Amino acid sequence: MSDQTPRVGIIMGSQSDWETMRHSADTLERLGVPCESRVVSAHRTPDRLHAYCAEARERGLQVIIAGAGMAAALPGSAAAMTPLPVLGVPMEGKLMGGLDALLAMAQMPGGVPVGTLGIGRAGAVNAALLAAAIIALSDAGVAAALDRFRAEQTAAVPETPTA
Ligand code: RP5
Repeated sequence: MSDQTPRVGIIMGSQSDWETMRHSADTLERLGVPCESRVVSAHRTPDRLHAYCAEARERGLQVIIAGAGMAAALPGSAAAMTPLPVLGVPMEGKLMGGLDALLAMAQMPGGVPVGTLGIGRAGAVNAALLAAAIIALSDAGVAAALDRFRAEQTAAVPETPTA
């Protein structure tokens, strides 16, 4: 496996989720963590999901980020089919603002966890930061990148508000 082998797999239930999930990809890119993005639906492309999960660890992935909306079966289904940690990002939906997807992901029955983040863009960014933090436990380069990210974020906060 090369340095550019994806270490985080970003999957999403629909093309319509990309507008949110690209923030996971952008954040990982900023941290220098190689990732890949795929549309993989639990109900529309179940065979694709099965194949993806079956190969994920062997291909070098260490964390999967799964974004989905509405019934949001994708993260739980993926978690059932891979031993890798799965982080779920609920999409902001039209009917309940994403609360439906949030509860679907967070309420996994005991035994198959999905680490559920917040709804929408913030959740997508935080899923990437959490994925990087998991990888940083055994990768000093990623740990240093995360430290830099935090330091830059802190430095960018003004002491007084501007008009
Ligand atoms: C879920 O259904 C997807 O994750 C998406 O958030 C939602 C709606 O999908 P589309 O009808 O926009 O393809 O499976």
